[in-house]
Amino acid sequence: MSAQHEYHFSDRHFKHIAKLVYQHTGIHLKEGKEELVYSRMVRRIRALGLATFDEYIELIQSGHDAELEEFTNAITTNLTAFFREKHHFEYIKDVLMPALLAEKKKKGEQKIRIWSAGCSSGEEPYSIAMTIVDLLPAYWDVKILATDLDSQMVEHSAKGIYDLNRLEKVDKSLIKRWFKQGSGANSGKVRVAQQLKDMITFKQLNLLHDWPMQGEFDFIFCRNVIIYFDHATKAKLCQRYAGALIPQGHLFIGHSESLFRVNDDFKLIGNTIYQNQGVKA
Ligand SMILES: C[S@@+](CC[C@H](N)C(=O)[O-])C[C@H]1O[C@@H](n2cnc3c(N)ncnc32)[C@H](O)[C@@H]1O
Repeated sequence: MSAQHEYHFSDRHFKHIAKLVYQHTGIHLKEGKEELVYSRMVRRIRALGLATFDEYIELIQSGHDAELEEFTNAITTNLTAFFREKHHFEYIKDVLMPALLAEKKKKGEQKIRIWSAGCSSGEEPYSIAMTIVDLLPAYWDVKILATDLDSQMVEHSAKGIYDLNRLEKVDKSLIKRWFKQGSGANSGKVRVAQQLKDMITFKQLNLLHDWPMQGEFDFIFCRNVIIYFDHATKAKLCQRYAGALIPQGHLFIGHSESLFRVNDDFKLIGNTIYQNQGVKA
């Protein structure tokens, strides 16, 4: 495997790294991902001035916190986009929010909690904020939590600065209202309006670890995240989502994901849209 590589990289190295990745992130690296692992890890080996993959594996195994963070950041795949899977946002605007607001008003509640779990660089929670902002009655307590394992992505999300070309598929009216174009050194960049940022709390969180949040979410986005997990990890995570949602809360997953034979707390009610059946353990 290592003939064309600058550093010796064998099947043993791949298996060892895949095991560490699984332990620390839940990401299941199948056979065929050898080149991906090599290219992502070799950057860390160079940055640290190490000579071999063995040295790098040893460093990770020693529990070096700072490098463990770099290691997990390096292995995550962060592909995302504003209003990715548009039908989810249409559903929120046309179906979910009107029903949720009516239900809350009936109960005399004025609080909404949303979680974007695996938010990557932030396009997803900002898209949620743009979708709901005009639907919310004034003075309601509305918060979106946006979390990701990758600390660099969380930082990027919180800054809310993007290349202008990331907005190619976003409606002109939304761009005009919610993004400020940079000039000088920042030309070609846009900054998200403070009003949207204020709706969101960004935090680093490994979904496999304990969740410090208290209270229930009205809906959760966990899109294009469980695709990297094996069956057992998916099943456990979805069970935890059911427990973290209000009884009829919604879970949105990615276009190539499914909860079929993964979890039966949820009922499929739309294209990759699930509803909690409200049965608490
Ligand atoms: C492909 S992105 C999806 C982004 C966004 N949800 C979307 O659909 O456009 C997957 C994200 O999941 C995050 N992720 C992977 N494993 C995770 C874990 N164990 N805990 C939290 N986030 C994780 C990655 O860092 C990455 O940013």
